[in-house]
Amino acid sequence: MNLSSRLPVLCLVLFGLSGAAQLARAEAPFQPVPHQAGKDVIWLPTSQSLVDEMLTMAKVTSKDLVYDLGSGDGIIAVTAGKKFGARAIGIEFNPKMAEFATQRAKKEGVADKVSFINGDIFAEDFSQATVVTMYLLPTLNLRLRPTLLDMKPGTRIVSHAFSMQEWEPDQTSTAGSGSAYLWIVPAKVAGVWDIKGLEGAAPGKLTLHQSFQQIGGTMTVAGVSQPLLGAQLSADKLSFSFFGPDKVMQSITATVAAGNLSGMHTAYGTTKAVEAKRL
Ligand SMILES: C[S@@+](CC[C@H](N)C(=O)[O-])C[C@H]1O[C@@H](n2cnc3c(N)ncnc32)[C@H](O)[C@@H]1O
Repeated sequence: MNLSSRLPVLCLVLFGLSGAAQLARAEAPFQPVPHQAGKDVIWLPTSQSLVDEMLTMAKVTSKDLVYDLGSGDGIIAVTAGKKFGARAIGIEFNPKMAEFATQRAKKEGVADKVSFINGDIFAEDFSQATVVTMYLLPTLNLRLRPTLLDMKPGTRIVSHAFSMQEWEPDQTSTAGSGSAYLWIVPAKVAGVWDIKGLEGAAPGKLTLHQSFQQIGGTMTVAGVSQPLLGAQLSADKLSFSFFGPDKVMQSITATVAAGNLSGMHTAYGTTKAVEAKRL
């Protein structure tokens, strides 16, 4: 066989080889690359030690539903399921990342409680979460802040790096070279409350001012207003002290739910139930 007669065979072999190479390239499993582009923020994974710390700060248990906003390779959601026994859902815009994380959950044996949604964190509903985790950007944290503040009081939010500006974290921690911040969604308590059950007094008027979890205000009993002392709010739990009209210190600890406040009032060595309604 001379060269001219071998040429078509050679072409076929070369064509076949390049086709096979293309096929191999097309079928190579997707592998995420640090700093790869994302819709609103690039992908960089949180280190395992910081993930563990974030979920520990949030006191995650098997009763929790954890949502990781921008879930990348799935490390946070998978850890929440595997080490903390929680149900977890990751929301990830990049479909290949969402699929990669889904396969990871299967490999790690937690696919029964850990799943991933291919979607946009600004469009998907994560209002059922009891814990929200994120590693985004300061601007994105601020865009999410109103939604997070509307979640059920007591929902824990943990962010790898980045603040929420005036909404100061309830706790800060570090692991490796990273920092994590924890916020507990506070109940909305601002307003004037008609309070009944104060020992030996006419109904009182409780005025509460609120900036995120910081609160202050006054208690008015028998026409005398006194500032609240040591006022604290954590999730739906409220506590404060005040001096009554007779200069005796009194204190209230209460739970807030849907415009009602109910708890205990301590004065003159006795503790009794107290109720209030927001006016
Ligand atoms: C910095 S990585 C964090 C990944 C993971 N949460 C972690 O801590 O390891 C941010 C992730 O958010 C994803 N992302 C960016 N914008 C998004 C959006 N609007 N909706 C959902 N995911 C988004 C990126 O693709 C990337 O995987």
